[in-house]
Amino acid sequence: MRHTAPLASNARPPMTTATPARYTRTAIALHWVLALAIICSFGFGLYMTGLSFSPQRVKLYNWHKWAGICILTLSALRLLWRLTHKPPADPPMPAWQARAAHATHGLLYVLFFAVPLVGWAYSSAAGFPIVVFGVLPLPDFVPVDKALADAIKPFHKYLAYALAALVLVHVGAALKHQFLDRDGLLSRMWPGRTRAARITRI
Ligand code: HEM
Repeated sequence: MRHTAPLASNARPPMTTATPARYTRTAIALHWVLALAIICSFGFGLYMTGLSFSPQRVKLYNWHKWAGICILTLSALRLLWRLTHKPPADPPMPAWQARAAHATHGLLYVLFFAVPLVGWAYSSAAGFPIVVFGVLPLPDFVPVDKALADAIKPFHKYLAYALAALVLVHVGAALKHQFLDRDGLLSRMWPGRTRAARITRI
């Protein structure tokens, strides 16, 4: 008869390369912090550009730029985490939907970097270098040049709109999975532990 030693209550199961049932806590935290930051920055961006020149407008522009730099930094961490940690497997769905989901996620990652980097370039070209939280000056990676600033400006806007449109597609797909397909997709990205996760100690 084979005897297996019971796991102590604080013992961790051995490291496994198996596909996890849900995202890691770090991936979940990064997902929701970034989602909030991106939605707030988009709202701030729309609001502040409609203001006439005032100290309030300058303050909001600075907050918008600082949020953009935080988004850039967190996105780099998120990408690093994603490349080193296996995501859960796709739930059953038609191949075209899985391809569309992967393409959307990939494009979202591209835009996480493109939108703030183009904003940074615009700020530098316009002659307003970024000083993060008023204490950390960032280098300019393009020269101060009014014509260049005018050329870059629409790209920041259109890329931000593209990001917003993709987020809407992404949220719509997540809600479809949750409420129409009822495949539990949202719980893989939701904070807290699902029953399955408690059992497998993820
Ligand atoms: C600005 C808002 C958001 C952005 C930028 C965003 C971005 C992303 C990205 C890039 C991924 C892929 C994660 C990876 O595999 O590395 C992801 C996954 C996911 N997101 Fe979002 N997200 C946002 C908001 C939301 C919202 C509001 C919901 C819920 C309604 C949601 C539900 C999910 C779910 C369920 C997954 C996991 C999909 C899977 O398991 O295949 N997201 N999100």
